[in-house]
Amino acid sequence: MTAIPDIDPLIVGNWKMNMTRRTAEAWIDAVLDGLAGPGPRCVVCPPAPLLWPVADRLRTHAPGGRLDLGAQDSHRAATGAHTGDTGLGHLGDVGCRRVILGHSERRAGGGETDDIVRTKADAVLAAGMAPILCVGEDLAARDTGRAETVVAAQLRASLPAAAAAGDIVLAYEPVWAIGTGRTPTTDDIAAMHRRLRAALSDQLGPAGGRVPILYGGSVTPDNAGEILRTPEVGGVLVGGASLSADGFLAIAAAAPGPA
Ligand code: PGA
Repeated sequence: MTAIPDIDPLIVGNWKMNMTRRTAEAWIDAVLDGLAGPGPRCVVCPPAPLLWPVADRLRTHAPGGRLDLGAQDSHRAATGAHTGDTGLGHLGDVGCRRVILGHSERRAGGGETDDIVRTKADAVLAAGMAPILCVGEDLAARDTGRAETVVAAQLRASLPAAAAAGDIVLAYEPVWAIGTGRTPTTDDIAAMHRRLRAALSDQLGPAGGRVPILYGGSVTPDNAGEILRTPEVGGVLVGGASLSADGFLAIAAAAPGPA
């Protein structure tokens, strides 16, 4: 198991299907410069074809720095006959420490069920990497007052068996807030994170109290400080605003310092 240092708060950038080799390398150089001092642990999750150039840049310029490499998804197998997928063997080889799993764009666009997400999360843990497990309600569930019930059920069904013993991060990402510029109120975020904390403790015992719960969905430099100071928010998962190095650095700079 790869040891992962203390991570409170954790700032994760999810580039989704964006960036080129050239813009990725420029981003890494700018962000490494900006992260030179003390501050929160950060993760960048490039699309699969950019993992190697980003990893090379990180190894050359900041070995052991506070920016880690993550992936946006993985197949549950290390290698094999799975055309078009990215295997855990490749992710380990390139130096990924974390893997986003169950993002709503994969649940909705890729047909991923809670069972598939749980199986992948167990495989990621067994491979020595740490899953960032995403859950979140759609607008219909939010509007009908079922958000907490829906998200708690998603967590119950997608949490891997090995979670109690492994490094795992949970990310609450309301589907209706992703890429829309809309965010829940900080009271709503706090209420959902409290519910998730209780569910984690129910399922994992004392280990459930130590799982960081990130918030994701339209996080920007303007709202990051308030969100990161919300009770039970252990970091943020950032899509659109992470594409700009300045935006990502501003979000990291908004994180409260170590207690
Ligand atoms: P967004 O995406 O920050 O662009 O809303 C967040 C995510 O999907 O992880």
